[in-house]
Amino acid sequence: MNKLTTLGQFLIERQKDFPYSKGELSRLLSAIRLAAKIVNREVNKAGLVDILGAIGSENIQGEEQQKLDVYADNQFMKSMELRGEVCGVASEEQDSFVVFDNDRSNNASYVIMIDPLDGSSNIDVNVTVGTIFSIYKRKTPVGKAVTLDDFLQPGTEQVAAGYVVYGSSTMIVFSTGKGVNGFTLDPSIGTFHLSHPDLKIPDNGKIYSINEGNYAHFEDGIKKYLKFCQEIDVPTNRPYTSRYIGSLVADFHRNLLKGGIYLYPGTTIKPDGKLRLLYECNPIAFLAEQAGGKATTGTQRILDIIPKELHQRVPFIVGNTTMVEKVEEFILANS
Ligand code: AHG
Ligand code: MN
Ligand code: MN
Repeated sequence: MNKLTTLGQFLIERQKDFPYSKGELSRLLSAIRLAAKIVNREVNKAGLVDILGAIGSENIQGEEQQKLDVYADNQFMKSMELRGEVCGVASEEQDSFVVFDNDRSNNASYVIMIDPLDGSSNIDVNVTVGTIFSIYKRKTPVGKAVTLDDFLQPGTEQVAAGYVVYGSSTMIVFSTGKGVNGFTLDPSIGTFHLSHPDLKIPDNGKIYSINEGNYAHFEDGIKKYLKFCQEIDVPTNRPYTSRYIGSLVADFHRNLLKGGIYLYPGTTIKPDGKLRLLYECNPIAFLAEQAGGKATTGTQRILDIIPKELHQRVPFIVGNTTMVEKVEEFILANS
């Protein structure tokens, strides 16, 4: 593999990593790649919608203009259904999971969970957004329609997970459980290239990312950790730098490349925090661990949580191992 390796080529060459899947997983990832390119095209013209979209928000074909998160949801759903490689999808945008109840899909082995548009509050202000996905092998026997049990699996069971970041470049970063690789889109030819092979999160991170506006509602362990981040201690690179975009994908992507920690802890008002276990925390935790980092609720490894419901929220702390373990120490000492 070299820097000219395309995502398509990579998937073909890595197919041997999944002897049981007969190419299904590669085809599924290539369906994600296609949906990502289509969503990327829409994200890039998001600012034009008001100009080109006319009053009543209809586009030139007379179709109603859709909010980008609904558009992304439809696009990923459609790609998954048309390729027939998955038997069902659960999406952050939909109340329940969707079963593709036809012969081909019922014979497929995988279910997928998606946050089609992450960071949606940033669309209108031209700031980076993303898509997050998580793939599991079904639990119920092949040949039948999938059920809720196929979706409520702990994160340790993920066979692949990743995200698309629609930033100053568009990238797909994913893992099939053998490290993390990042591919950057060359928009002139519409191809993703292996730009970040075998990503490892630097363990000497000094970035912390949290919505500090919630400070008054944090538990003491988190409050004390934030003060620790702000203290002067030259040998340990403190004070750390604060960076918060408000798109989990973008905040995590930066911290993955540079080393750092992202926190969305529980608060006195929302004890389970904001982020969704199945669509956001599990896939990002899987990537973090595959890159040598760690992800926790503060007291429990994210990937070990047995999900109880599709839209379950959990406190989420993810980043390089040293920084995450330090927060855990503060939480333990103050509980
Ligand atoms: P989504 O757009 O999918 O609903 O996710 C938004 C999430 C996450 O991306 C981000 O880190 C967090 O919400 C920001 O929340 P606050 O605005 O409360 O900081
Ligand atoms: Mn999200
Ligand atoms: Mn979303």
